[in-house]
Amino acid sequence: MDLATATASPPPWLVTAHPEVLPVSHGGATVWPGSRQHWRPTSPVFREHALRLTRALAERYGQHPVLAAWHVSNELGCHNLFDHSDDAAAAFRAWLRSRYGDLDTLNQAWGTAFWSQHYTDWEQILTPRAAAFIPNPTQDLDFTRFSNDALLAHLRAERDLLYRLTPGIPVTTNFMVNHHTRDLDYGAWAHEVDFVSNDHYVRLDEHGRDELSFSANLTSGLAQGRPWFLMEHSTSAVNWKPVNLPKGEGQLARDSLLHVAHGADAVCFFQWRQSRAGAEKYHSAMVPHAGPDSRVFRDVVELGRVLREDLAEVVGSRRSPARAAIVFDHPSWWAVERLSLPSDEVDYHREALEWYQAFLDLGVRADIVPLDADWESYDLVVAPLLHIVPGHLADRVARYAEGGGHLVTTYFSGTVDTDDHVHPGGYPGAFRDVLGVRVEEFSPLPCGASVALDTGGSGDLWTEHTTVIGEGVETLARYGEGPLRGTPACTLRRLPGGGTASYTSTRLSAEARERFVRRLTEEAGIGSELPEPLRGRVELAVRATEETEYWFLSSRTGEPVDLAGVGGTPLTGAAALLPPDGVAVLRAERP
Ligand code: GLA
Repeated sequence: MDLATATASPPPWLVTAHPEVLPVSHGGATVWPGSRQHWRPTSPVFREHALRLTRALAERYGQHPVLAAWHVSNELGCHNLFDHSDDAAAAFRAWLRSRYGDLDTLNQAWGTAFWSQHYTDWEQILTPRAAAFIPNPTQDLDFTRFSNDALLAHLRAERDLLYRLTPGIPVTTNFMVNHHTRDLDYGAWAHEVDFVSNDHYVRLDEHGRDELSFSANLTSGLAQGRPWFLMEHSTSAVNWKPVNLPKGEGQLARDSLLHVAHGADAVCFFQWRQSRAGAEKYHSAMVPHAGPDSRVFRDVVELGRVLREDLAEVVGSRRSPARAAIVFDHPSWWAVERLSLPSDEVDYHREALEWYQAFLDLGVRADIVPLDADWESYDLVVAPLLHIVPGHLADRVARYAEGGGHLVTTYFSGTVDTDDHVHPGGYPGAFRDVLGVRVEEFSPLPCGASVALDTGGSGDLWTEHTTVIGEGVETLARYGEGPLRGTPACTLRRLPGGGTASYTSTRLSAEARERFVRRLTEEAGIGSELPEPLRGRVELAVRATEETEYWFLSSRTGEPVDLAGVGGTPLTGAAALLPPDGVAVLRAERP
């Protein structure tokens, strides 16, 4: 059993005795009890009580034979990431002191000469509360870093106590890797747990199954290819959307198996029995209100059988690395979606997902990996919207391409350093030299506008007047209309070491992106592992042991897909026809 420490939701007696544990909102209002997660990450009082409870649980159940792992708190930061209380302000100042050492350095980093924001005493510094106009961007970015670190400190405090009291029992906490959870840096969190766990709720009315695949793939990247836990997903409807649709036929199994395909070795659901009272009584469960005589319960039982019998041998196998990777960097995500930028419409997650979908459409596997992973081991690396680029990262990226790697990046990349100061001399700043292009001015597009490219397809959201400045740069696509007509939209620079460095200055339409990715995979010598008729219609994910490969083939279309032509022994009893929402698992000896 993975036992939670039960510290996520403070009970009424605690907040009555200690109202100073309650968080304060951006506007200065108290976040009152009555729901859940109403605690300040930096409250010494809350920390003391949380550790008391953790200790009591560890002392009581530490020797229990079924205790397999600890689960710290629950979805840390789901509701209480940004706290503007006095505790938070004091802890923020302490965090800033240790980051900057002295006020001069902080003033420099925050650019406080602008708008008379110069600080002369640490006590003058506040969290970025609701203010008259745009907040100081570096203060705001630092507050996100600090808030992330404050929750990490809470995780470490509970974890380290558990390590002392129950040595040898692994500790995890459930991440929320999805397109809404932006402001946590899971790349850093992954180093703090013994195994990675994730919660994922598929939103078929938003990005759907490809986003599920993206989340599972990135979770595997965070886990460095090792198996991980799917701590929560839903059997059917959730209850926190305006309209909560049940899952259709086959989707419970599909959603679960797609996580397994990307490395999950445990598939758990929230919740066991559908509650009859409380805020989540209309959230689906393994045993619904209707009881065991229900489609949901039968599907859960059948999934249990498939996992226990058909797929038992898959447990422990690791992700078999693809040859292409997409680098995902949470801090760059934070930085490109703030106030006072050239466009409010930039969407980091969507940009990364669309690159992923281009690979899926071509039937080419791509791993999604955090920035601190060993992405140099991939032949082709896409780093979309890689916005925060300190000097050492610029060098690392250049070394990769100059050493024979195939690098791709996009508009609004290479733009700022760690302090959010712009790299001068023209965009894309830190990547200008390796890409061999220079941009004088951003030209974001109004909402809904797009620009045709001369090679077909279009760009929207953002354009740039790009000038080629380097040797060996080929223009792959140009703007076909408007003020930038004839200037480069996509470039590829051939480097002497056999590598390439490519750039796009716009958000490419699916057609244009597919053409670009096709060319890039050709340059990198990467082909599809799928037979031609399956490409795009089926996603391939591969897990492997030393001897065996497990091929997970998951449908991306509403039509049945004929799997003839794919070798291997079926493990899931799937017939040669993969139904819509189907997942087939095949075993093959490793070549
Ligand atoms: C989160 C929480 C659960 C539950 C589910 C509902 O993942 O961890 O407690 O509220 O959402 O979807």
